[in-house]
Amino acid sequence: GDSDASEFELEEGENGKRLPNAIIIGVKKGGTRALLEILKIHPSVRACSSEVHFFDRDENYEQGLEWYREQMPTSSPGQITIEKSPSYFITSKVPERVYRMSKSVKVIVIVRDPTRRAISDYTQSRERKPDNPPFEEMVIKDNGDIDEEWSKIAFGRYAEHLTHWLEYFPSSQIHFVSGEELIKRPAKEIKLVERFLNLKPFIAEKNFYFNESKGFPCFVGKITNSGSVSKAHCMGETKGRKHPAIRGDVLKRLREYFRPLNEKFYSMVQRNFHW
Ligand code: A3P
Repeated sequence: GDSDASEFELEEGENGKRLPNAIIIGVKKGGTRALLEILKIHPSVRACSSEVHFFDRDENYEQGLEWYREQMPTSSPGQITIEKSPSYFITSKVPERVYRMSKSVKVIVIVRDPTRRAISDYTQSRERKPDNPPFEEMVIKDNGDIDEEWSKIAFGRYAEHLTHWLEYFPSSQIHFVSGEELIKRPAKEIKLVERFLNLKPFIAEKNFYFNESKGFPCFVGKITNSGSVSKAHCMGETKGRKHPAIRGDVLKRLREYFRPLNEKFYSMVQRNFHW
């Protein structure tokens, strides 16, 4: 029907499903899952367990906001609801759709060196299609140019994608997380996210330990609010894959390709990510 977000508001004090207050829109392979899992440590955060793909897939969007709300976890009034679908960032029709739901929703993007991101994305697709040619063959065209249309490259042009979002949302409403920092100093990087979301500082160093064999920060065990015990654990096997070694000359060309685009992005978001 002619849906209006106010129809779905809940009575004060009622536990129920609420439309998200914040959305993690990307970037694919930036560390979106780790970011969401870390935020879930916070008692005031409730998150969808799987990617909803409401705004990017027409068959879902056509179901309307009530369908979207149904996909959310239950929350209490003091909690915020977060959803992550990494394809939102690069889908140009999404910003307007998000704006139509709520012009005050908070938008989070976790970014990562676009060269590494491309290799990570390629590594993931090759798991499904083991017969794919090597990365070097896919990224360099027969004429010797970089294939800029290849999605693994196109997704990494962050400044370009961000431009579509800035048509609808002020930059103060979009927070960028460094994917690299979230691995090196998770507690420090997540503090900035807590502040952006107006959450009480809660997630701290003591929530993480560095797992040498995984090569990534993992979660320490803890007793949850409801009294149950969660054991120490790392992200699953599909997070933190081994990447194939890429030829040095190809890496160098990709870094050169992305350098000016990265500089543009740094100046748009007022943060240097040092890629
Ligand atoms: P790789 O598997 O290429 O290393 P996404 O969840 O958006 O698909 O991102 C996956 C990436 O999250 C991984 O890419 C990995 O680098 C990154 N990541 C960040 N923190 C992590 C953590 N604590 N454990 C595992 N992977 C993490």
